[in-house]
Amino acid sequence: MFSNILVTHFYLAIVCVYASKNQPPTYQLNDGRHIPSFGLGTWFGVSNTSFNPVDEEASERAVGWAIDAGYRLFDTAFIYGTEKSVGRGVKRKISEGVIKREDVFICTKLWVDSYGRAAVVPALRKSLEALDLDYVDLYLIHFPIGQFANGTLDLTDYRETWQGMVDAKRRGLTHSIGVANFNAHMMDRLIKSSCVKPAVAQIEVNLNIQQPSLLHYCCQHDIAVMGYTPFGSLFPERALPGAPGPRVDDPLLRQIAAAHNKTVPQIVLRYLYDLGVIPIPKSITKSRIEENIDIFDFDLSPEESIALGGYDVNYRSGKIWSDSPYYLTKQFTSK
Ligand SMILES: NC(=O)c1ccc[n+]([C@@H]2O[C@H](COP(=O)([O-])OP(=O)(O)OC[C@H]3O[C@@H](n4cnc5c(N)ncnc54)[C@H](OP(=O)(O)O)[C@@H]3O)[C@@H](O)[C@H]2O)c1
Ligand SMILES: *[C@@H]1O[C@H](CO)[C@@H](O)[C@H](O)[C@H]1NC(C)=O
Ligand SMILES: *[C@@H]1O[C@H](CO)[C@@H](O)[C@H](O)[C@H]1NC(C)=O
Ligand SMILES: *[C@@H]1O[C@H](CO)[C@@H](O)[C@H](O)[C@H]1NC(C)=O
Repeated sequence: MFSNILVTHFYLAIVCVYASKNQPPTYQLNDGRHIPSFGLGTWFGVSNTSFNPVDEEASERAVGWAIDAGYRLFDTAFIYGTEKSVGRGVKRKISEGVIKREDVFICTKLWVDSYGRAAVVPALRKSLEALDLDYVDLYLIHFPIGQFANGTLDLTDYRETWQGMVDAKRRGLTHSIGVANFNAHMMDRLIKSSCVKPAVAQIEVNLNIQQPSLLHYCCQHDIAVMGYTPFGSLFPERALPGAPGPRVDDPLLRQIAAAHNKTVPQIVLRYLYDLGVIPIPKSITKSRIEENIDIFDFDLSPEESIALGGYDVNYRSGKIWSDSPYYLTKQFTSK
């Protein structure tokens, strides 16, 4: 009996060491749930003004490679068109016995055309159908701005949308709820209006927009931060005209990377992780998926972190809906 316990513990210890190589720690959310501290983005992005077509097979494959590489958090959204492929990628690994449903954390988002309170639960049911799941781990209001399918702005207050999010949580369709693209003023309004706080805020965080005051706000309110577009303008082929540096070939970034035998993208992701942000880099390339999560075996020095902090110029890469009263930078003065 006693030796059985010892053997079991010995075995568990080995499993933990083995599993922890690339397995990021989890954070406890303010609703008691746990979220992995690193994840995979699944948006195929935009070129000019239209969304890139989704390659469903590439998306499903990427999710499988990511699970093998240690990813347990997946970020999708109704509007990305990747809910189906993400769901399939996860289901395949469950059927192969690699993971169980409860081992993965799936995040999806409410699109802006369903912002009335009564529209939220039906919208989530549609997403669950695409994912082929009974629940998601996290549902986010995608933007603080509504827009009807016909293109007219929907000025429904996001506090009303939030009531629909709370309805969805109470029905068990999502474990946690949160917001994306909200500023501190908006989160304050929301928190004062409801007895359920957002568990997560997903915002743009990369070298060019490090969001110190918003991170501070979220930290004070125990709201976890998922950082989207973690590479910002790092890669020349994705940087908008006139976007600030550094690029991936920057001499200082390369020097820091060489000092740790890491790549520049790994240095950037480690820096974001050290800020307390949950980075969700997107890739459909096996080698990059593996490279991006391989950041848990080194530390940046204080001097290196200070140098990386120097690239913050508050440059936002997403600029849509600037004519709405709820546009991101409006009312920002309250912080
Ligand atoms: N809430 C929101 O409003 C919002 C907005 C934007 C994004 N997001 C989420 O955040 C995720 C990440 O943001 P993002 O997709 O905008 O940008 P990103 O993750 O910063 O960059 C993705 C791009 O970088 C490339 N890449 C990835 N790893 C690389 C590496 N190690 N070396 C070289 N290139 C690499 C990818 O190419 P390949 O795929 O070809 O490998 C892809 O073109 C999205 O997918 C989405 O889930 C949310
Ligand atoms: C963007 O639009 C310009 C002009 O319409 C075109 O020349 C260019 O190829 C487009 N770029 C992409 C990536 O689609
Ligand atoms: C757009 O749709 C909304 C909601 O259905 C409606 O109230 C509004 O009048 C429509 N606007 C136009 C210009 O059709
Ligand atoms: C440097 O990193 C590469 C890729 O991860 C690895 O193969 C190599 O062994 C490392 N070199 C040293 C000296 O640690």
